[in-house]
Amino acid sequence: MIVENQQHVTTAVLAELERAKSPRLKEIMMALVRHLHAFAREVKLTEQEFQSAVAYIVALGKHTNESHNEAVLMSGSLGFSTLVCLLNNGNNGQTETSQNLLGPFWRMHSPTTPNGGSIVRSPTPGPALFVDAWFKDAAGKPVVGAEVDVWQSSTEGYYENQDPVQADMNLRGKFITDDKGHIAFRSVKPAGYPVPVDGPVGDMLRALGRHNMRPAHLHFLAAKEGFKTLVSQVYAPDDQHLETDVQFGVTRHLIGDFVRHDSGPAPAADVTAPWYSLAYTFVMESGRSQLPRPPITDKARGERPQIERLTASA
Ligand SMILES: [Fe+2]
Repeated sequence: MIVENQQHVTTAVLAELERAKSPRLKEIMMALVRHLHAFAREVKLTEQEFQSAVAYIVALGKHTNESHNEAVLMSGSLGFSTLVCLLNNGNNGQTETSQNLLGPFWRMHSPTTPNGGSIVRSPTPGPALFVDAWFKDAAGKPVVGAEVDVWQSSTEGYYENQDPVQADMNLRGKFITDDKGHIAFRSVKPAGYPVPVDGPVGDMLRALGRHNMRPAHLHFLAAKEGFKTLVSQVYAPDDQHLETDVQFGVTRHLIGDFVRHDSGPAPAADVTAPWYSLAYTFVMESGRSQLPRPPITDKARGERPQIERLTASA
């Protein structure tokens, strides 16, 4: 159809979308066009701003490679990843959920570790942390024999794959839940860390006066036939960035009870106070067991990288 005016262009596009054979594709594309056109009208997008937006999308792609995904970082930085997670879990967003963001640092083939073992595989500074985690179904019954990957950053703010100073697979482990649906391991208390800001997402955060920190957390991925694969993070309540996570991942349900111990006997002879303990119970929803695609496959070499830390403006 011939476009008569700015209002009419939306009508023309929606008319063409009627040709789509897939009802779901039609639904998604129609809503996208309606919202996209309404967005341009609302902000009265200028031609120069439109050209900047196109260049920005190109830059997201150019800044993505085998070990980094700038588009995922962008989505998280706008809260979109968490929105999609919450819409699709917890009874379609009606109830709280243990599900959370996978993040860009899960690797396959974490070393199988016996329950109670340590995931500290090279000297790592920081207070000791002893974790007990339980995995239950919606009825509260233990999920026995689930394969649970755990991974975290060091207290210096690096995952081992980013940091050639750490041993391969440091602060990663694979555990199997026992007959109580339980795993236990020793680690160090994680610290918050900066997300990379050497690409277009960094430009956006600087322009918006935002910092680039994630609050300290542990990652969990639990899989067993008959259950939707549980992807989760448990956050430390004492982190200064808990309320301003650059990736908007923190939900009330996933703030863990990290208990600081300043006295009394420690769980291991070599541990001195202060040390920490964490007990947490996850609920696994029934569904299809399917592992996500690993976002990374390898470890950085050479020098430990320096990742800039941005400060939020007041
Ligand atoms: Fe993380």
